[in-house]
Amino acid sequence: MTIKHWKFALVVLASVSASFISASSVALADGADDPAVASSENGKYADKDGNPTYKISPDGTVDWYTFSGFRRYHSDCHVCHGPNGEGSTYAPALAESLKTLTYPDFVSVVTNGRNHVDAANDKVMPSFATNVNVMCYIDDIYVYLRARANNAIPGGRPPAHEDKPEAAKQAETSCTGIK
Ligand code: HEC
Repeated sequence: MTIKHWKFALVVLASVSASFISASSVALADGADDPAVASSENGKYADKDGNPTYKISPDGTVDWYTFSGFRRYHSDCHVCHGPNGEGSTYAPALAESLKTLTYPDFVSVVTNGRNHVDAANDKVMPSFATNVNVMCYIDDIYVYLRARANNAIPGGRPPAHEDKPEAAKQAETSCTGIK
């Protein structure tokens, strides 16, 4: 085997193992799993595994939580992660991350934060554990980004949304402490 062939064989090996790894991680990820609505309770939708998901009507009307997530994302995450989950030079595109990031992992990163600080990097994802404006709406932000990851909605403000469910008002009152 010449050097040239040897290198070629390595490249093939690398791409085979890379596609194996990505195929297996996609199979395990909630975010990348079928986002179809399997159940609903008071205007909140869940997939077959019970993870929060979005519901978009053919005319583009989004469920309340997706709309709420759009607003919360753009008030608390957009500054680093860019508009519409598209990413920035500082922080990753969450519309991409949610293709493979599971729901529990998403909640964990937002709650605990994550640092990538070394000689070449100075990236800090803050912990939002004590921020009620984020933690009380964590599922809203998740379903909004999940919809973006699946190209279920375009960028920008959703044109219309379902009414705010009574259950969302009650959950908000008890979670945020705002009467
Ligand atoms: C101050 C800037 C900043 C803000 C504000 C911020 N993030 Fe981050 N976030 C980061 C950085 C930087 C990373 C990458 C950290 C790393 O490299 O480990 C990150 C990573 C993440 C990840 C992991 C992505 C992946 O691909 O693994 C998630 C999920 C995330 N952020 C969600 C959010 C959410 C939701 C909000 C809003 C509530 C938010 N972030 C607000 C800076 C920020």
